[in-house]
Amino acid sequence: MGTKKLNVVMTVKLPDGVETRFRELFNTTLWLTKEPMPREKLLEAAATAEVVVSSINDRIDEDFFAAAGEQLKMIANFGVGHDHIDVAKAVEKGIIVTNTPGVLTEDTAEMTMGLIIAVARRFVEGAGTVQRGEFSAWSPTFMMGRRIYGKRLGIVGMGRIGQALARRARAFGMQVHYHNRKPVSPRISDELEATYWDDLDQMLARMDVISINCPRTPETYHLLNAERLALLQPHAILVNTARGQIVDEDALAQLLKDHKIAGVGLDVYERAPAIAPALFGLPNAVMLPHMASSTIEARTDMGDRVILNIKTLQDGHRPPDRIIPAML
Ligand code: DGY
Repeated sequence: MGTKKLNVVMTVKLPDGVETRFRELFNTTLWLTKEPMPREKLLEAAATAEVVVSSINDRIDEDFFAAAGEQLKMIANFGVGHDHIDVAKAVEKGIIVTNTPGVLTEDTAEMTMGLIIAVARRFVEGAGTVQRGEFSAWSPTFMMGRRIYGKRLGIVGMGRIGQALARRARAFGMQVHYHNRKPVSPRISDELEATYWDDLDQMLARMDVISINCPRTPETYHLLNAERLALLQPHAILVNTARGQIVDEDALAQLLKDHKIAGVGLDVYERAPAIAPALFGLPNAVMLPHMASSTIEARTDMGDRVILNIKTLQDGHRPPDRIIPAML
């Protein structure tokens, strides 16, 4: 007799191939629309499912756990960031939480590098002039941006994604600086020729480009507050592909409007999907709809990682990507 299949409820629409595999391996209830699952349905899932496959759109909070029945064994998050999940509460209730580390690193780093270049070289503004039929003649003074070669990149958070970004930045001739809770190993630091700053303020004031690549935790909420943002140089560019809440978005919009920094590249927002109204219409704000890991390869690998975690549980073992509160 085979292993009993777990009852899995998905709260997100995944690529078809991944969903088919879910159906083959588990008793899966798919979520077939791109809209987030409404709250009452999510609470219903907590009360009935053995495994809930969640995403950043779901608030897995105290109310969720209050609604959860004894049958709920695991929250398998589709994504690496887990700031929307009360992990401590889950652990208290004996519910496992997993995520999908490692498989979206290169994609997120690619998008971050893309945003740095897009802002510095004014891709969106330039493309807009062509789309509007305004490109009439080549001119030496038209659409001048800033060279990134030889510039200093300050990475806030030197985990997997920060390091993957650093490798790309090196290839573009940038000098890598970083702020992290602790320095990376000498091997990585030598490879990247990276300069460590224990004092974030000192680093911010000296960089040409800042990239946010740390997780959102209670400690990193508004890590770049108005005072810190004011340290940036007027020609600096700030890029954020991590979490919107790490930067005070209203203060950032004001700085941009006042020409106190040169530009921003954002994929995430403090109150997503809402965006600070002051950011709209600014030519030097390149804004994307949280799509840094959105490649078919990453989304398939993320799905496979979720499947691996659930299948491991189903087979009676400990899922590999458990989030342990000591790690938080
Ligand atoms: C992630 O994996 O954290 C992405 O930002 C989507 O949640």
